[in-house]
Amino acid sequence: MTIKNFVKNLLEPPKYQLNSKILNSLNYQKIRCLRENKKYEKLKKSFNHESLNIKKNEKDFLDRNGYIILENFFDEKSFEIILNSFNKYSNSNRVKYKKDFYNMIWGSGLISQNSDHPEEAKKIINLFENSRVLDFAKYLLKRQDLSKNFELSYQDLMLMDGKIDNIDPNRFIHADKHYHCVKSYFSIEDNHINNAPYLYVPKSHLMDSTRIEFENELSKRSKTDMQFRVSDNDLKKLNFSVKSMIIKKNSLVISDNLGFHARGEMKRGFSRKQIRISFHSVQANKLQQFLRKTARRIVL
Ligand SMILES: [Fe+2]
Repeated sequence: MTIKNFVKNLLEPPKYQLNSKILNSLNYQKIRCLRENKKYEKLKKSFNHESLNIKKNEKDFLDRNGYIILENFFDEKSFEIILNSFNKYSNSNRVKYKKDFYNMIWGSGLISQNSDHPEEAKKIINLFENSRVLDFAKYLLKRQDLSKNFELSYQDLMLMDGKIDNIDPNRFIHADKHYHCVKSYFSIEDNHINNAPYLYVPKSHLMDSTRIEFENELSKRSKTDMQFRVSDNDLKKLNFSVKSMIIKKNSLVISDNLGFHARGEMKRGFSRKQIRISFHSVQANKLQQFLRKTARRIVL
């Protein structure tokens, strides 16, 4: 293991599956899932959600399906501010374009006041910090201690000339973790069937006995690039179907990525602009959070 990987592992929350044939053959993934599920059930029992700014029908929908789409997330004026700031931020020193990423061009970068566009970053960060996004993350994770502990990233996705969007591992249905975790993004422009809509499998966030058995079986499959891929056949067996998130600009999507999901196909001549709201770091333990915070202070 290189030093870089060692430090990375130290700062990262637990991996979805362990890369150990022996442990997996001993049903260790089942034990990991049961352990996380028990922790979540305990959190759920003591979690007080009364103070959160979430309506009952929104809670019910999220509980049942594992995702929610919030249209017109910001008022018109705030959305204009975000749109302008986002466009200006594309020229920031934080945004880097990866030119050949599985046939895609990926523009991405942390939206940070410690950049050469601090004012633009500040406007975006303030609006998100004062929005309901944190309440939804708290509700989903059953944790009240997530105080503004999220990161915003600029994202711009395109297809390379003459290529087809069919090799990116994110195109294949998978789960991110074996425990409840949050993914959230905000659409800067309409997201339709041609510009890589997010795909989510409703109800797949429920860690029932069928899902635990499936996780166990998945951990024993041969290790390839697509080792965690959930096939069409798997979905059929589990009685799941995939939903494409066709959404308008100014919509926020939040999902539990214990549930199965993927990125939809990017067709030729289209692009997709989003702000990604990342909560993965909050899954880390206290020591990891402290180290991350310290590292952030030094690097960012
Ligand atoms: Fe994912």
